[in-house]
Amino acid sequence: MKGMIFTEFLDMVGERFGLAVKDRIITAAGGAHDGAYTAVGNYDHREMVAMALELSRATALPLRDLLIAFGEHVFVMFTRHYGRFFTEASGTVDFLSRIEDYIHVEVRKLYPDAELPSFTYPPCAAGQLVMEYRSPRPMAAFAEGLVRATMKHFGDPLVLLVEDISGGAGTSARFTLAPA
Ligand code: HEM
Repeated sequence: MKGMIFTEFLDMVGERFGLAVKDRIITAAGGAHDGAYTAVGNYDHREMVAMALELSRATALPLRDLLIAFGEHVFVMFTRHYGRFFTEASGTVDFLSRIEDYIHVEVRKLYPDAELPSFTYPPCAAGQLVMEYRSPRPMAAFAEGLVRATMKHFGDPLVLLVEDISGGAGTSARFTLAPA
């Protein structure tokens, strides 16, 4: 997993919960490479999972809520660094429809070693969007945070239904967006 995802995560933890919690979760990740993460590095995604679990223990907040908040935090970074993907899209449904075949394809060109999830878009009623997230990594709640932040960013009157389709593993989920 890209180092920038780790550095964003640790920035969020430091800002919201302080340096003591940040140190504690870095230690929980196993002390590999002395806990030093750089934006241009690549690290085992299991270190992220270990840090997120430890953060949940340290703060007594549900893991899912923390991953959603993390997705919302990363979204702000995406809007700053990859602005054109946002200005090219006419709204939430248009933007989210472009992730699999365009945005993550462009991301892969920039970072050939990126570990990206897959999205499929099953047929649905006009005005709605159904997208199914699948990954070897349990980041469905992180994806949910990105989807929720997208809805806020574009401000379209939509409601989101999230269904776990991974039996609680967090490796796949169905997102249904419908007019409010
Ligand atoms: C401008 C928009 C976006 C950019 C530039 C972008 C880029 C990236 C990058 C660089 C990674 C890290 C890959 C790695 O760690 O190796 C990533 C991962 C991920 N992206 Fe995107 N992304 C965008 C939008 C979205 C949106 C809107 C969603 C959700 C619907 C999404 C879902 C994910 C998820 C869940 C991961 C974590 C890896 C996994 O679950 O397997 N992305 N993306």
